[in-house]
Amino acid sequence: MKKDASARKDSFPSAPIEKKKPQKRPMKSVRPDVKNQRIVLSQKGNKYYVQPEKGKVLLDAALKQSQDVDYKCRKGTCGKCAVTVESGKDWLMPPSEREQSRLKEQVNKGVRLACQAVTR
Ligand code: FES
Repeated sequence: MKKDASARKDSFPSAPIEKKKPQKRPMKSVRPDVKNQRIVLSQKGNKYYVQPEKGKVLLDAALKQSQDVDYKCRKGTCGKCAVTVESGKDWLMPPSEREQSRLKEQVNKGVRLACQAVTR
């Protein structure tokens, strides 16, 4: 038995079809709450602007963001990656023992080792 088209149409409730708007997703690599935040660094007369990337060392975040911070060993021994944090120090974890022993008094003046300083 075949039903005609009008009979089928009447058998379903006529509820309006809701279209869902696509929701904006935050960028994967940068947390939404830090999107407009940045760490300002200086090294040998150059300034660098880095967005914090939770758990990454400052050097890796800087290089990923095309900030050409100078470095050599990446182990915290040579000191070539030393940078002065001009603003945004709250986005960095406290200096590690390795940083403190390598930089000594400079740590108190805002100098950090970019290869060792971890962003929050
Ligand atoms: S690159 Fe050598 S101490 Fe950071």
